[in-house]
Amino acid sequence: MNIGQHLTLPNSVTLKNRIVKSAMSEALADEYNNPTQAQIDLFAQWSKGGAALLITGNTPVDRMHLEHAGNFVLDPSSDMKRVSALAAAGKSGGAKILAQLAHAGRQTPEAINAHPTSISDVQLDLPGYGKPTPASEAEFEEIIAKFVRSARLAQEAGFDGVEVHAAHGYLLSSALSPRINTRTDRWGGALENRARLAIEVVRAVRKAVDPGFIVAVKLNSSDFQKGGFDHADSVQVAVMLEAEGVDFIEISGGNFEEPTAYQHASKSGSTQIREAYFLDYAAAINDALNIPLMVTGGFRSSNVMNDAIASGKTDLIGMGRPFIADPAFATKLLNGEIAKAPAVEQDFPPAETLPRGAVLNWFCAQIALAGQTGAPDLAMSVVDGHESYLNQIKLATDRLLITRRK
Ligand SMILES: Cc1cc2nc3c(=O)[nH]c(=O)nc-3n(C[C@H](O)[C@H](O)[C@H](O)COP(=O)(O)O)c2cc1C
Repeated sequence: MNIGQHLTLPNSVTLKNRIVKSAMSEALADEYNNPTQAQIDLFAQWSKGGAALLITGNTPVDRMHLEHAGNFVLDPSSDMKRVSALAAAGKSGGAKILAQLAHAGRQTPEAINAHPTSISDVQLDLPGYGKPTPASEAEFEEIIAKFVRSARLAQEAGFDGVEVHAAHGYLLSSALSPRINTRTDRWGGALENRARLAIEVVRAVRKAVDPGFIVAVKLNSSDFQKGGFDHADSVQVAVMLEAEGVDFIEISGGNFEEPTAYQHASKSGSTQIREAYFLDYAAAINDALNIPLMVTGGFRSSNVMNDAIASGKTDLIGMGRPFIADPAFATKLLNGEIAKAPAVEQDFPPAETLPRGAVLNWFCAQIALAGQTGAPDLAMSVVDGHESYLNQIKLATDRLLITRRK
């Protein structure tokens, strides 16, 4: 077994190999949260790059709960011509494409929504995020209905499926965490209650779409926070999700407060982070499942990927940042031209010497460049990329707020 082998999902859809582009928020939508040509062009580049499957950046099901301005939204106001063009671009080079459906919950920036709906009133411990309002029983029903509505729109637009985002501290992920979810009703307390929102969303989405439409879920292996959603919980939730008919589960970890998903091992740093940092957690989850598992985070060397597949720890290899540095690296890795995916972050200064979020923001700035000009600028310094992205988001937020007032 290796990365070049195809994989047939439970719904009978076959992926041509084991490499998946994981979701990366492109921040390239316009002020109406519709995909732009730059975003469409980027997916056309990725599609011909050799990966079997592309997952869009998080796509809010509710425009009052964006991760940031520039997210493309799937709701009845979406420009379906543009959304269909995005899906077609994702498939144009032979890949399949999923829309990652998300509700940012308490991780919605204050500028977008000062009091976002969340699982509780526990506020994000970072500047720029307001005090959330706990969802009412009726709001939970609305949220589930919005996921269904977006999944149907994704199907109508020509996507091959959706990935429900239940990782990284967004609403569904925060509901799983006993640290954030302080409810005492049927949505809080025991794991079965904390998982209710994710399970009900997935159940309703699965029921609403065609059997051949892929329904996947991104789940944390752990939040890596004291008193948070932990590994034992994660194994159990994965089993619950399998029973709902999901086609695969993607494993990641962390949230905005604990950004474990974006670790980077700097050559100049003293701490060495090993490749594929969630793989050992994932192995225990995979042991408990019959459906395929995808692990994302830090994979770079083809021998590490092949070993992970051959040893049965994972079925699919998710990667993010390498697709920004070289959209065609997957073909090269699959045909043996290169033994390692690009790992530009290894040449960066250690994260603790940089402003918070700088490395991630550098990659976000490169996504914008790759979409707008056809290529990233890998020579740009981390701090310049960071600042350029902060400006980009500020402008996008200003434009969004002006549009909202119209
Ligand atoms: C610029 C950028 C944006 C990201 N946006 C998302 C997102 O919208 N949804 C998500 O689930 N993960 C997101 N991620 C996380 C990636 O999917 C992936 O889990 C992470 O980058 C680790 O994989 P890597 O080491 O191969 O980059 C993002 C990562 C980057 C670098």
